Amino acid sequence: MSSSSSCAKPEFQSGQDVSGYTIVGKLGSGGFGAVYHVKKDALQAALKTEFVVKESSQTLKNEVHILRLMQWSPHFCRLYAAKRLTWQDQKVNIMVMSLCGRPLSRLRRMMPQRHFTRETAARLSFMILKALHDLHQSGILHRDVKASNCGWHEPTRQIMLFDLGFCRKFLDKDPKTGKLKHREARKSAGFIGTSKFCSVYAHDEKDQGRRDDLWAWLYTTAEFFLGSLPWSNEDNSHLVSTQKHKISNKLFLRCPREIYTIFNHVKQLKFDSCPDYPMMLKEFQNMLTRLQIFDEEVFDFEPGSAYYEQYYANRQTDSECEDCQMLTTDLETSASTGEQTKASRIVDVDPAPALNEVVGAGAGAGAQEAVITLNSSKSSEKDGGVQRLAAGLNRAFNRIIGNE
Ligand SMILES: Nc1ncnc2c1ncn2[C@@H]1O[C@H](COP(=O)(O)OP(=O)(O)O)[C@@H](O)[C@H]1O
Ligand SMILES: [Mg+2]
Repeated sequence: MSSSSSCAKPEFQSGQDVSGYTIVGKLGSGGFGAVYHVKKDALQAALKTEFVVKESSQTLKNEVHILRLMQWSPHFCRLYAAKRLTWQDQKVNIMVMSLCGRPLSRLRRMMPQRHFTRETAARLSFMILKALHDLHQSGILHRDVKASNCGWHEPTRQIMLFDLGFCRKFLDKDPKTGKLKHREARKSAGFIGTSKFCSVYAHDEKDQGRRDDLWAWLYTTAEFFLGSLPWSNEDNSHLVSTQKHKISNKLFLRCPREIYTIFNHVKQLKFDSCPDYPMMLKEFQNMLTRLQIFDEEVFDFEPGSAYYEQYYANRQTDSECEDCQMLTTDLETSASTGEQTKASRIVDVDPAPALNEVVGAGAGAGAQEAVITLNSSKSSEKDGGVQRLAAGLNRAFNRIIGNE
């Protein structure tokens, strides 16, 4: 099994120019690459990078492919550019996307007792569920749902679900009928995900379906409300699985009752079952009404909340201080949070279309550009909302059914 955090990553320095984007600082690092805060003119963005070791195992290429398909959804970052560079004689993939604030994992750890208030926990969990709904509607599984893969996007007050390198399509066209159908389960799919949050089926290396993303979302939700999971300090994946079996419904009995209802639904889902999203979204709506939680209310980490001044306003109270990390320390290194993403079979994502091999001019600081694509960096976050939604949905669907 390969541990994701052991992978060498391109290290860029503050002020360095990478393909026209200036590095401002490092935001995080985990699986296969590092993520940097970059700027270009008025645009502030996030740049994710990985070395191209083998053509067959490029998670960033898959991530770009999926993110392009998800441009219609407000719960996914805008994709500004995706390129292949030669940097210090090595091939490097980069992608540039919307810049988020701290991931939800860090925002939670900054709270007293490391849990959000009920109001914030409920609304964040609801947003992740909506993001998963959008992804599943597009025929795609995430396979590593957790709070460190959700960023808080201040301009839209939304969460963005990122880290799409392990995504996989679960629909296939039936050659006989030409209709879409769920893929057959593979006998052993290898382990993909994060031990702390994955379903018990993923522990057993069973092929994952929509239910597995929902299990990971349920555990993430329980941690938002409770501050920890019973296996938070357990490193042995086998023992984590045993504890998950043992605790069964007790964990969710400690969350609002609507979560418990959803848990009861998720627990009876089979590998290829279609989750009852209308029911789950309605349960959340009921919960928000019952607990009198309103959209205009501030989240725990926003100015005006009871916690803001004490825990969030002063960045020095952040346990992984952003101001002192620039470029040397990995902020959200998975190892330091016990939330290591692991994959025993990296190459089980669908082959993504090749990044076009177009040699471009104007490479920055020793980086030779090999690919130039996608949106102009001037695109605004809110550009053509409705049109993009319709066009994107169409395109995503066409790709899934193989018309494109
Ligand atoms: N768009 C983004 N905006 C801000 N921070 C980000 C963004 N994408 C990733 N990060 C930060 O980088 C970390 C690692 O990125 P992620 O995409 O999860 O890659 P990995 O595969 O390395 O886990 C995240 O946990 C988060 O802290
Ligand atoms: Mg991640």
